[in-house]
Amino acid sequence: MNIEKLKVMLAPLERYSDSCFRLLCEKLGADLTFIPMISVNSINNENFVRKIIKESKISKAIQLFGRDLNLFIKSINLFSKYFKVININLGCPSFKIIKQGYGAALLRDLKSIRNILKEIRKNYTGILSVKTRIGFDKINIYEQMKIYEKYTDFVIIHGRTAKQGFRGKNNWKLIKEVALKSKIPVIGNGDIFTYEDYVKYKSYAHGICIGRGALINPLIFKEIKTSKRISDVKQKVNVMLEYVNCAEKNIPFSVIKLHFYQFFKGFKKSKYYRTRLNSCNKVEDIRKLIYELI
Ligand SMILES: Cc1cc2nc3c(=O)[nH]c(=O)nc-3n(C[C@H](O)[C@H](O)[C@H](O)COP(=O)(O)O)c2cc1C
Repeated sequence: MNIEKLKVMLAPLERYSDSCFRLLCEKLGADLTFIPMISVNSINNENFVRKIIKESKISKAIQLFGRDLNLFIKSINLFSKYFKVININLGCPSFKIIKQGYGAALLRDLKSIRNILKEIRKNYTGILSVKTRIGFDKINIYEQMKIYEKYTDFVIIHGRTAKQGFRGKNNWKLIKEVALKSKIPVIGNGDIFTYEDYVKYKSYAHGICIGRGALINPLIFKEIKTSKRISDVKQKVNVMLEYVNCAEKNIPFSVIKLHFYQFFKGFKKSKYYRTRLNSCNKVEDIRKLIYELI
């Protein structure tokens, strides 16, 4: 895999990055998609591991979280046979994760990050990356970069601190500064909701990673690949049908419904469709709602 060619990625999105959504985004042009948030503590659960491995047919990247070095190494030994990219989560700010010292909690403890990445690197020669934020409560991205430059192949940076969550403006200016100085590719992440946002920020980093914008409009990947905005409702409807056709066989209905709350945000009368969605109890109800769009 040529890292330089990884220009546009679907961000790892827990609850939403199901196999059908990842497949859809890859078809529409995402260069990389991730299986999100796999705990290194789950490595001994054989059924779970088997399920994850099956999904490597769709995604080339897997995201791991934890803090136990031996479990990281064990997990990577196992998953690296199936995935081309191992990504370590250092950015998750959720209370449940932080409380256990995982995700963004590690941004307060750069010594541990160094130790984990250094030891992983000794055991694993494939593509290693991290997904991080600019700091925990204060910005320390330059200190972080010193570690990543030494032990990893690329870094995805969300331009907010963990404490900020999703509040405030994404710090693209800082991402740009970091990317300019970096010895490894920096993938910028945060608040790319439209093709126009992408055009504005694409030169700020070596590549761009899109989360919530892709949940609302997966066609953003096609817009980027073809360099033009798509306003044709029919194409949007086709994408929704493609998702639902795949998902009805593979994905729990509650998750399908979550996706449609997002998809409908991208339409006029979004509130109307989202309210109607509340009373959908089966996939066929959602299909009928989709057909109302055209
Ligand atoms: C619903 C949801 C789930 C997320 N799950 C993950 C995850 O599993 N791993 C991760 O690194 N980041 C996760 N994130 C953060 C996103 O990957 C991304 O960094 C963040 O949403 C900012 O990008 P955006 O503005 O393009 O959405 C999640 C974000 C959202 C909204």
